[in-house]
Amino acid sequence: MFLQLSNISKQYVQNNVETTVLSSINVVIEEGEFVSILGPSGCGKSTLLSMVAGLLKPTSGEILLKGSSIKKPGKDRGMVFQQAALFPWMTVEENVLFAIRDMKNKEERYNRAQHYLKMVQLGSSLTQYPHELSGGMQQRVSIARALAMDPAVLLMDEPFGALDEQTRLRLQQELETIWLQTKKTVLFVTHSIHESLKLSDRILVMGTRPGTILADMKIDTPRPRTRTNIQITKLEAEISAILEKEIDKVVKEELRQ
Ligand SMILES: Nc1ncnc2c1ncn2[C@@H]1O[C@H](COP(=O)(O)OP(=O)(O)O)[C@@H](O)[C@H]1O
Ligand SMILES: [Mg+2]
Repeated sequence: MFLQLSNISKQYVQNNVETTVLSSINVVIEEGEFVSILGPSGCGKSTLLSMVAGLLKPTSGEILLKGSSIKKPGKDRGMVFQQAALFPWMTVEENVLFAIRDMKNKEERYNRAQHYLKMVQLGSSLTQYPHELSGGMQQRVSIARALAMDPAVLLMDEPFGALDEQTRLRLQQELETIWLQTKKTVLFVTHSIHESLKLSDRILVMGTRPGTILADMKIDTPRPRTRTNIQITKLEAEISAILEKEIDKVVKEELRQ
């Protein structure tokens, strides 16, 4: 078992009111899997990912990575957020080099930064500054930065959520190519059914109030996948039905209150 989430629950306390955001989350993720966490806004996707990152602690339960309990952030987990969060005073290359500043061998360190920047198609932008880059290019830098750390798991929280549709589709394609090359274990949060169907080996569909896993679906359609592929259209309908039922439930609950 590579990454194991056992009986995870999370409660937040705000103004003395306790809310259960996640409840009874049990998942085992194997090495090399591309797993999407798909669910409506507010169902606890970011909370779940932040716990795997070690940025938040579960209220109960345990997360194990290669048998060790996750207590805090570590180099074995690389994170990519919706906003790239680059250092504005550093060049593209320096941003990546900074993430691997502990590497002793200077030449290896430079080679590694360049290798991953080439992988994300930024080989010719090494000396540019973040403000000179488009949103898509900035996100590419943050992907290169996370990969350069050679983490056991790559955690991505709606990484393409702030990009225009064209750029988003292009980066999805590039991420798929990178994943096929590196076979990293990826935990990818999204609220886009299409995005999850394009990229994942497996989709965890989440419901809300409290967040739970409603379905755990294996996607074995050959890559690259198109939206019009029969299997994909069928799966899309299946996931839509699950999410619509969930939204119905929430609306009814709200009407009752
Ligand atoms: N620090 C916090 N304190 C209190 N409530 C929070 C906090 N962070 C998130 N929440 C609540 O927890 C729920 C899940 O949030 P989040 O994990 O961000 O969902 P998602 O990423 O699926 O949109 C939301 O209802 C949100 O308002
Ligand atoms: Mg979120």
